[in-house]
Amino acid sequence: MLEVERIDKLKEMISPKRLEHSLGVRDTAIDLATIYGVNPQKTRIAGLLHDCAKGITNNNLLKMADEFGIVIDGVIKKVPALLHAPVGAELAKREFEVDDEEILNAIRVHTLGSEEMNLLEKVILLADYIEPGRSCPGIIEVRKKAKVNIDLAIRIACDNTLMYHLNNQKLIHPQTLLTRNAFLRKGENDE
Ligand SMILES: [Fe+2]
Ligand SMILES: [Fe+2]
Repeated sequence: MLEVERIDKLKEMISPKRLEHSLGVRDTAIDLATIYGVNPQKTRIAGLLHDCAKGITNNNLLKMADEFGIVIDGVIKKVPALLHAPVGAELAKREFEVDDEEILNAIRVHTLGSEEMNLLEKVILLADYIEPGRSCPGIIEVRKKAKVNIDLAIRIACDNTLMYHLNNQKLIHPQTLLTRNAFLRKGENDE
């Protein structure tokens, strides 16, 4: 499937604003991929499609997760929007003709991360956080660090996300904390 065909399909699934974000993630991810030596074609597809399930209602996400055999834990039950990542990976496969497991995994873990992430997964998670349309406290520092130390940049991004959730009385998924702890150790090793 050509990228233009994927973009046309995305237009039917997500809002114009979300599409703009997706294109921003694609381009930022390609920049990071150049720095860190990641396959640009895989990066391009994963970046473009990472939020393809973002326009789906919570109820439908829960239904689809059930149908696709995705594990729904206690936090996800209360925050079904988190399912847009694993459901998005399934849609990338079923609707966008992506059969590369590395691309699908990068989409699957782009929100919560994981303790053992490969470079493609890191690039997509970070690009999602720093693409030009994003603004949040501390983002300038993360953008700077992203170019020189991807692990440290992700750790700071995780910390910012956790602080936002704490300050706004929002549920924290345990995986966010596990990811952050894993990157804390990695960041220390690199400094
Ligand atoms: Fe997302
Ligand atoms: Fe996103």
